[in-house]
Amino acid sequence: MPYRIFATCDVGKDALDVLRQRGYEVEVYDRLEPPPKSLIIEKVRSGVDGLITTLRDSIDAEVFEAGRGTLKVVAQDAVGFDNIDRAAANRYQIPFTHTPDVLTDATAEFALLILGCVARKLYPSERLVRENRWGAWHPYLPFLGDEVTGKVIAVIGTGRIGRAFIKKAVGFDVDFLCYQPQHRDEEFAGKIQDAMNLRFRLGLSAARCTIRYVALEEALRHADFVSLHVPLLYEHESPTPTFHLMNAQTLRLMKPTAYLINTSRGPVVDESALVEALKQGVIAGAALDVFEREPLPPDSPLRDPALEDRLRLFSHFASAGRITRLSADPNKGMAGRCVQGLIDVLEGRYGGNPANVPWVVNKEAFQARVVER
Ligand code: GLV
Repeated sequence: MPYRIFATCDVGKDALDVLRQRGYEVEVYDRLEPPPKSLIIEKVRSGVDGLITTLRDSIDAEVFEAGRGTLKVVAQDAVGFDNIDRAAANRYQIPFTHTPDVLTDATAEFALLILGCVARKLYPSERLVRENRWGAWHPYLPFLGDEVTGKVIAVIGTGRIGRAFIKKAVGFDVDFLCYQPQHRDEEFAGKIQDAMNLRFRLGLSAARCTIRYVALEEALRHADFVSLHVPLLYEHESPTPTFHLMNAQTLRLMKPTAYLINTSRGPVVDESALVEALKQGVIAGAALDVFEREPLPPDSPLRDPALEDRLRLFSHFASAGRITRLSADPNKGMAGRCVQGLIDVLEGRYGGNPANVPWVVNKEAFQARVVER
């Protein structure tokens, strides 16, 4: 019997063809919007071996219960997996995979680009031209932006993406204040400091820049830009939760001239507090790629035209580069890595050792589990 797979979304034809070429039966929900939960449950209950999901799907205890005894793997086409109930997956001993690393650079460069976009007022400037309101070149009218070079960037979360962001931002001759509640990567910070020292010594930067780990409060107080690179963690999941990490109190710690950049997960920022902070001039601006509710609801206060000049809004687009999203090569694309993770688990390609399946998030689910057909 061939393996049967249900994909809640078309993650990319080339990658899905890899499964078909191995004789898998692959059914794809190929509409733009996500399938209703009832359909996912129906498909899982029908006995599929593998489920390909995206961050739009809520994969909770109900889904795992529907797959009891038949569902062998959930393969998520994203690095974040806050939509998957890990405890429930473990109860049913169903491993799930994600797609780390292959989207790190795309996401990090996007964060840096939207930081520049909001600070240098790219959108208002283009609108001026398009709407024929560019009356004359003038030294400072109708508005100015803020330079990135030489400023202080707080990097909140120095995991894969935070570190990649730092590597790219070094060329802007900025100082970094890093915040990481657990597992500070001092070795990485040391290497970045060495690179900055070298740039200075060679005359490639005008000042000797610095990188330091500090407490959250210190990072927020001193930064000109705050870039969020943390996973979404609720109180019941972690001693250092990140839900509404940026709220009325923490936003108030930021300088009135500072900008907030979020490419992590929407609920890390309390959106109503952010709207108030922007309206009252508590901070200068923000660029958001992720939202508490996605797609952003038509009546979201973030759409207030009064905020348009200082608030950039994007469509959860950070990893949306052609190669990053679609390459069937598991070392290049999310689609490839998603499909490869699914194959590795289903076909037991880990020699009995869960450590050999790096993209499985809940390795604990393998305990006492026998993959048989
Ligand atoms: C995107 O947000 C991802 O988690 O891959």
